[in-house]
Amino acid sequence: MAVHLANTSLFRTDAFIDGTWRPALDGTCRPVHNPATGALVAQVAECGADDAARAIAAAVAAQAEWRNRTGAQRQVILARWHDLVMDNLDDLATLIVTEQGKPRVEAAGEIRYAASFLLWFAAEAMRAYGDVIPPTNPATRLSVIRQPVGVCAAITPWNFPAAMITRKAGPALAAGCAMIVKPSELTPLTALALAELARQAGVPAGLLQVLPGDGTALGKALCASPDIRKLSFTGSTRVGRVLMAQSAPTLKRLSLELGGNAPFIVFDDAHIGQAVKSAIAAKYRNAGQTCVCANRFLVQDGIYDEFATRFARAVEALRVGPGSDPDSVIGPLISAGARDKVEAHVHDAVKRGATVLCGGTGDRMGPLFYRPTVLRDVTPAMRIAHEETFGPVAPLFRFRTEDEAIAMANDTEYGLAAYFFTRDHARVHRVAEALEYGMVGHNTGLISNEVAPFGGIKQSGMGREGSRYGMDEYLEMKYICTDITDPDA
Ligand code: SIN
Repeated sequence: MAVHLANTSLFRTDAFIDGTWRPALDGTCRPVHNPATGALVAQVAECGADDAARAIAAAVAAQAEWRNRTGAQRQVILARWHDLVMDNLDDLATLIVTEQGKPRVEAAGEIRYAASFLLWFAAEAMRAYGDVIPPTNPATRLSVIRQPVGVCAAITPWNFPAAMITRKAGPALAAGCAMIVKPSELTPLTALALAELARQAGVPAGLLQVLPGDGTALGKALCASPDIRKLSFTGSTRVGRVLMAQSAPTLKRLSLELGGNAPFIVFDDAHIGQAVKSAIAAKYRNAGQTCVCANRFLVQDGIYDEFATRFARAVEALRVGPGSDPDSVIGPLISAGARDKVEAHVHDAVKRGATVLCGGTGDRMGPLFYRPTVLRDVTPAMRIAHEETFGPVAPLFRFRTEDEAIAMANDTEYGLAAYFFTRDHARVHRVAEALEYGMVGHNTGLISNEVAPFGGIKQSGMGREGSRYGMDEYLEMKYICTDITDPDA
């Protein structure tokens, strides 16, 4: 075992199908590497369409039984899963550091975040309320009940290998659904460890399954199956569109958490210390590799120079290094492709007139490390203004008026998260309402938690995760109309 875990039962390399660990039917494996060192970590089962068919059949059977359990019964099992995740926090964090690369403090934070969805949805299992509707005809009684959607599939990303699973599987199981998870090829080990803990918590065989493998092949198989009634995906807008098209013939319900191009607006009246601190949090979490990371810093004229200087000074102090080093704040990027995109954005901006205030190059720590970077005098003509960088680069744009800031902020096909900093109370409402985004942070760069609805509009997708609204994604509404007249009267 290339990873040292206290609980060795968490190191799994087979698929988890119908309550048992199985190699892929055709025996294929795929290597998993540590992005900090390039070292081989594991060879993991590479499932294909036949494995998916087995998992779907098991899920159909398991869900038929699970849907009839009470919310209270589901709650107990989900809460137990939560407790086991928390009990094994260190090992799960080690798996994330090893296969994903984020610093250990962040990895441990992700496990707490992941566990919080299990606890939240354990409680929500008890609250799948319906409605009684006042009838239009006195001879009728109208009600609405909510029932589980059925068998669901989740295709999850590498940037949050644990939290994006529990944010989907938690509400699915709470609602009475079964869930088949297809984790990223780059980070399957955390997903498989979570499945082992679900097994230990008493999640019935077939209810939660994990199929590591090729995204294209498994995506096709899951989308094509009429037994899969819902698909939840977190990832790029490009892949989201493909999955939506592939889901059309079976008319699946969809939750799509896709790309972003988050603006971070700093008005002249902002508290500059608060804005700088929040900018670090909103930009450099996971080395800039989150969908809600600030991608464009729009700074008002009167504060621009001071913000640029203080921000760059703070960014320069962020320590680059492997996630396993407790002093590291910026870990590696996930792949050479990710690093190439970051480099291309910086080169393009500099070529068109931007100035590098700090960073702007790779780091001696290794080929996938990139120094945290701040660019000033960035303009809308540059690539970085329109594309999600997904890396540790903060471009500073300048604006003069509130209207100009809102127009610049909304000038993107994306609509996931936006942030703004002001101490003017009237402006708070004007700006929050004018921003075309699913989530808005005012005077904060950290908005994610289990009780709030996470999700976007426009090309950032559809549906909400977390919060009480997160349950709705896994429940169907059924309207029942009863005629209470006595036909013999
Ligand atoms: C994501 O990047 O997809 C999720 C980020 C979060 O939950 O804060």
